[in-house]
Amino acid sequence: MLERLAVVSGGGTGIGKAIARELAADGCRVVIVGRRAEVLERAREEIDRAVGAARVVPLKADLTDSHQVSAAAESIAELGPVDVLVNNAGAVITEPADDSLAALADAWRRDLDTNLLTAVLLTTALLDRLRRPDGRLIVISSAAAQRGGAGPHSAGSYAAAKAALHGWAFGLARQLGPDGITVNVLAPGYVADTEIFGERWTPEFHAAKVADTLVGRAGTPDDVAAAVRYLASPAAGYLTGQVIGLNGGAVLGR
Ligand SMILES: NC(=O)c1ccc[n+]([C@@H]2O[C@H](COP(=O)([O-])OP(=O)(O)OC[C@H]3O[C@@H](n4cnc5c(N)ncnc54)[C@H](OP(=O)(O)O)[C@@H]3O)[C@@H](O)[C@H]2O)c1
Repeated sequence: MLERLAVVSGGGTGIGKAIARELAADGCRVVIVGRRAEVLERAREEIDRAVGAARVVPLKADLTDSHQVSAAAESIAELGPVDVLVNNAGAVITEPADDSLAALADAWRRDLDTNLLTAVLLTTALLDRLRRPDGRLIVISSAAAQRGGAGPHSAGSYAAAKAALHGWAFGLARQLGPDGITVNVLAPGYVADTEIFGERWTPEFHAAKVADTLVGRAGTPDDVAAAVRYLASPAAGYLTGQVIGLNGGAVLGR
């Protein structure tokens, strides 16, 4: 097969970096998108060294900003049709600054922008450039979408933003199915070794998350990357419009 082109948002760190490495190892040229140029550059060096070929293209953009997304899509279009788009960028945002409704609104808007709008803008900007047939659109959600977040405020908005991705992806699956493009959502449970938890990560937090699983361990970025590799592959052409839980059994059968 000729070299395929993949785009991974948030591909400079954590789960996104593992996905980018897996797709590069699978022979794809991979555009990684994020806001920090130096982080993207480090990831490019690391992945290219690991796969022994120059496969990674770093692209700096804040995907909540429609102008930056348009510019990023123009750059990507110069590389050819997009075979695989992985909407992975996202984050759990800090709690509202105070108890006011204004602070709550700010926190919710930030979570919706970061976890929902990033995917909607990038996908929309690249929609006409997805490979037809055989394009693959993958959305990284969260088990939080299936069982709610842990805290009263921003954790709730994170879960809500991720859940909104599901309904959006179902509509896209209907829209793009006739073009031969599959659309699926991957909903990971707790995945260690990423930047997402920041200072909220403690050994107790980790132990509680592991205790939630049936397999007695945290997920790894490589666990998610392996699933993405399959969803992105030609073998997965009959799988579309699904939410796939990847959570060590912490959420059953949804
Ligand atoms: N780790 C878990 O337990 C877990 C569980 C379920 C789901 N997830 C989901 O998995 C995805 C990856 O998270 P992770 O755990 O690997 O955390 P991470 O290391 O913090 O990765 C998040 C990535 O998104 C990028 N990003 C954030 N906002 C962006 C924006 N506005 N524009 C462009 N890029 C942006 C970040 O890069 P910059 O900061 O440089 O922009 C970063 O590379 C997220 O969607 C997360 O919600 C994670």
